[in-house]
Amino acid sequence: MRIDILTLFPDMFSGPFDESIVKRAIDNNIIDIVLHNLRDWGLGKHKTVDDYPFGGGSGMVMKPEPIFEAVEAIKAQGSDSSAPVILLTPQGKLFNQKIAAELAKYNRLIFICGHYEGVDERVREHLATDELSIGDYVLTGGELAAMVVIDAVVRQLPGVLGSEESASDESHTAGLLEYPQYTRPQSYRGWEVPQVLISGNHAQIARWRRQQSISRTFLRRPDLLKQANLSAQERKLVAK
Ligand code: 6GU
Repeated sequence: MRIDILTLFPDMFSGPFDESIVKRAIDNNIIDIVLHNLRDWGLGKHKTVDDYPFGGGSGMVMKPEPIFEAVEAIKAQGSDSSAPVILLTPQGKLFNQKIAAELAKYNRLIFICGHYEGVDERVREHLATDELSIGDYVLTGGELAAMVVIDAVVRQLPGVLGSEESASDESHTAGLLEYPQYTRPQSYRGWEVPQVLISGNHAQIARWRRQQSISRTFLRRPDLLKQANLSAQERKLVAK
């Protein structure tokens, strides 16, 4: 997958993409991340990328010309010019695991990171194919949101996670919160690991974990349960 990122702050991406799993995906040629500085398409001597809003008001708005011209130039670079063009904005559709799985099917994605008070509406109307937000809070720009989306998409790609890392993605746990995890020591400051986990009874352990996942989801995120993959018996238990 080729991932193009159009941003005023390309340096922001060096930390998250230079470590751990995403770095390994880059090193293994599973993904190619190409950063583009929007300033390169800025207008005039000062490489202007923003301007005052028509109609007045506070803050600046990102001009359309640099963004349109940058995306057109970026599209012309790669082979797949039908790639989604994703605008990161707090007004976008709320990003989730399902959208991550959808995006993981493409062989190219183009991200536009918005900044300031916003982006000229014509970018949204005539250039972006998708608009995404990562939650109901306001960030200083779309960069951190792009990193979140890209991280979630990249870990879905075949060969990115080792088999040990990917175990919890199984379809029957989809939509539920994780069960509690423990490692050694068995007793720490007098706090014991649940007995069932050291019983060696794998059927019982699986049952306990499943129950923990469901009750934890019920208590903390009841909104998730409606869409979770529960058996008829588990649904009855939840209803009770
Ligand atoms: Cl995509 N951008 C900004 N600026 N703030 C956000 C966001 C995006 N998603 C949540 N908050």
